[in-house]
Formats: sequence, C-alpha cells, structure tokens
Amino acid sequence: MAKKPSHVEQSAQNAGDQVIEEHRRIKQSLDLLDKTTDLRTMVPLLQELRISLDEHFAQEEAPDGFPAMIAEPAPHHARVLDELFNEHKIILSTLDGVIANALFCLNGPLATIRREVTTICGQLRAHETRETELLTDTIYTDLGTGD
Ligand SMILES: [Fe+2]
Repeated sequence: MAKKPSHVEQSAQNAGDQVIEEHRRIKQSLDLLDKTTDLRTMVPLLQELRISLDEHFAQEEAPDGFPAMIAEPAPHHARVLDELFNEHKIILSTLDGVIANALFCLNGPLATIRREVTTICGQLRAHETRETELLTDTIYTDLGTGD
C-alpha cells in the first residue's frame, strides 16, 4: 500500500500541479500566438502573455515556489534552476522588445498604410461613381431622349 503523503509533500504536489496547469495555459497562449498573423490581434495577445508571465515567473521564483519545490528537495537541480530563472529575465526582456516592435509597426508604418488604403478606397469610389453617373447620363438620358 502506498504511503500517505505528508502535509508538506501534499502541499508541494498541489503547488506543482498549479504550476503545471499554468504551463498548459501558457502553451495554449503560445499556440494561439503562433497562428495569429494579424498584428492588431497579436499585440493584445502579447500584452496578455507578458502580464501572465510576469506573475507566473514571480510565483516560480518565490521562496515557496521552485526553490521549495525543487532546489530544497533536489539540490542537484539547483544549477538548472538558476539557468531557468535567468531565462525568465531574458524571455521578459525579449517579449518587451517584440511588443515594442509590434506597437511601432501598428502605430507607425501599419497606421500609415491603413490611412493610405482608406484614401485610395475613397478616391476609387468617387472615381467609379463619377464614371457611373457619366455613363448613366449618356446612355439613359442623352441617347434615350434623342430622336
Ligand atoms: Fe514556468
């Protein structure tokens, strides 16, 4: 018969389960981001990810997080844990750069192109309307009334 886990073991397992559940949610966010090509959809997804990672990494790094769950019971993993914690900083910084680039494109070049598209659409509508009016006027009015 399996030994009943102690209170400490049980709480470590609950905390571990919670982290694994968060990893599952983060993976879903990443899968969605990977499929997203529209920058206007992508930016809020990146910003949401940034907020959730901030909290997630902080929980993992907290004394009752990975240090208690991994480094204390398995000190031979301490070096890997240090590497992973360093990656947290790099990932957040990289993500900040990606968000800044995306916002720059969205508010700069993309906004300019958007305005240009709106302008050319308006010009083309007006142009086609004038041609239609001219055609209608000629065919149905000028030619239609001639004897
Ligand atoms: Fe994590």
